[in-house]
Amino acid sequence: GPFHAASQAQPNIALIKYWGKRDAALNLPVVGSISITLDSLWTRTQVRFTPEQTYDRVSLNGRSDEAEAKRVTACLNLLRERAGVAWGADVASQNNFPTAAGLASSASGFAALVHAGANALNLQLSDAELSVLARRCSGSAARSIFGGYVEWAHGQRADGTDSVATPLLDADAWPLRVAVAITSTAAKQIGSSEGMNRTARTSPYQSAWIDTQEADLATARDAIHARDFDALALISEHSCLKMHALAMASQPGLLYWNGATMECMHRVRALRQQGVPVFFTVDAGPQVKAVCAPSAIEQVKAALRDVPGVLDVHDTGLGAGVRAIAK
Ligand code: DP6
Repeated sequence: GPFHAASQAQPNIALIKYWGKRDAALNLPVVGSISITLDSLWTRTQVRFTPEQTYDRVSLNGRSDEAEAKRVTACLNLLRERAGVAWGADVASQNNFPTAAGLASSASGFAALVHAGANALNLQLSDAELSVLARRCSGSAARSIFGGYVEWAHGQRADGTDSVATPLLDADAWPLRVAVAITSTAAKQIGSSEGMNRTARTSPYQSAWIDTQEADLATARDAIHARDFDALALISEHSCLKMHALAMASQPGLLYWNGATMECMHRVRALRQQGVPVFFTVDAGPQVKAVCAPSAIEQVKAALRDVPGVLDVHDTGLGAGVRAIAK
């Protein structure tokens, strides 16, 4: 049919973290962030609009999920508004990785949805416009529009038109690898939006977090442009630990780690002390992402597999931004 399109997007992992919103309705962040887009994990999404249809039908990995369907409809509403239509859509989305395992499925999910939806409605949107729309559906999705190393600016404007992601460096220009240690498959306790909200209301460290982010972003940007692994390692671990310290200081404190998470972090540090180019980062969940030079990936995977409580270790390179695929 004519109003039908399919797109693929990959998750991204923040090295300099996004945590906190200056506007929850528009998903405007209090801080900028820097991420890497991955390559072997993906979301593939088909969107078909039907003019006479009045509702959306949403399937994720072949199943319907009411909470997710609500977010999908809210996201499609932004596209319908742009196109001036009220058509219902059929959306079918597949992930090749566990959705609830803290692997940023919302980032790849909403980047793919916005791209496929815009194509299905024949909206001619720039990457920057797609990034703004993806951001409104899930903050970190703004970054999955682009591949490689990506920065999402917090922006100044109240309407959010300048809170957009831009590419810093292609994946091929510095092809680091990432080992993902799965330490739990339970759905996460407290989602990012709720966690950020609690942090902003109750953590005494919120202002220090905001005040120090610009310097961290500059350090990471410089490290990426210079392909300086050691500098990127230090600033990335700092940003991760600072985000968790900020969240832990909330009331009640947010504890996203389990014992294996902590042990993996120690293992990564021990490897680096031995000269292996690797660093860790952890998001709002218990999985550990270890970023390393390509030559170190097998050693890093073996070390993480060896940690008690680690259930599985995936590995991936860095990849491209969102794109159209065959329907
Ligand atoms: C810890 O993008 O999932 O992964 O904007 O509420 O959808 P919403 O939150 P989300 O938050 C991601 C938080 C993080 C850090 C990051 O990816 O920068």
